[in-house]
Amino acid sequence: MKKEEIVKEILELKKKRNAVIVAHNYQVDDVQEVADVIGDSLALSKYCADVKKDVIVFCGVHFMAESAKILSPDKIVLLPEIDAGCPMADMVTKEALIEEKKKHPNATVVCYINSSAEVKSECDICCTSSNAVNIVRSVKSKDILFVPDMNLGSYVAKMVPDKNIILWEGYCITHHRIKISELERAKELRPNAKVLVHPECQPDIVAAADFVGSTKQIIDYAANSPDKEFIIGTEMGVLFKLKRDNPDKSFYLLSQGLVCPNMKKTSLLSVYRSLKEMNYEINLDETIRLKAKKALDNMLEIS
Ligand code: 13P
Ligand code: SF4
Repeated sequence: MKKEEIVKEILELKKKRNAVIVAHNYQVDDVQEVADVIGDSLALSKYCADVKKDVIVFCGVHFMAESAKILSPDKIVLLPEIDAGCPMADMVTKEALIEEKKKHPNATVVCYINSSAEVKSECDICCTSSNAVNIVRSVKSKDILFVPDMNLGSYVAKMVPDKNIILWEGYCITHHRIKISELERAKELRPNAKVLVHPECQPDIVAAADFVGSTKQIIDYAANSPDKEFIIGTEMGVLFKLKRDNPDKSFYLLSQGLVCPNMKKTSLLSVYRSLKEMNYEINLDETIRLKAKKALDNMLEIS
């Protein structure tokens, strides 16, 4: 099928199913083009919590679709590619977390939204990359067990020095591999460019950046900045909105390695098949869902 035909079919099926298509900022351009909403983890969670549709087609990775289901249990939540996972989210399991919690009985457990529903069910409050600093500031205890991203945790520890942040050794395979030599080279080539990076990058990269934020915060920063050139230190999918919304500005990817293979699994054809066959439906154990929802609700109350 040609692209226009697939798009036409998607739009018809979307109407028939009373569905909404949401896409994370890292999705391929074709999928972002057909989406009703594009955003970062926080914006999409908030949107899904309130959306008045029967079906949510979540173009992203597994934990994101799970979060939508946690917040919208009465809706059918579909993940077009069932193997689209997040390796960082898989770096913490519920069992391992229960063991770690025993070592830190006074710690509040803050979990990055990049985690499974099972892990969230063992946490006190969730955070995303856009609100992690505020969430940690809002927590009463001094000790905080932060899972699973050690890079985001380190960034938060720097921003909130009065807290004792206990890190988990998880990381994003895509952001963690960016090297400071790549950043130095990019700056040499584009000396006037502002460097905007995601807090999933390692601390030396974050320290050398002009701005640190979630995908949406990076996109908003570039749109509102008087600067004309930017070096982008996050997954390449953000270039879609950056270029579309700022035709007078130039964007350079910090590293050619900034590709998340899991985010790239979803294609226009997957979205079409998902709506046609109602695949792959996310279902959760109700006890787990309710406990995980508490952690997400605690976050949404603050952000
Ligand atoms: P955002 O919350 O910034 O969209 O990030 C999600 C993510 O998976 C980053 O790698
Ligand atoms: Fe997970 Fe990293 Fe991909 Fe984000 S970019 S979904 S953290 S692997």
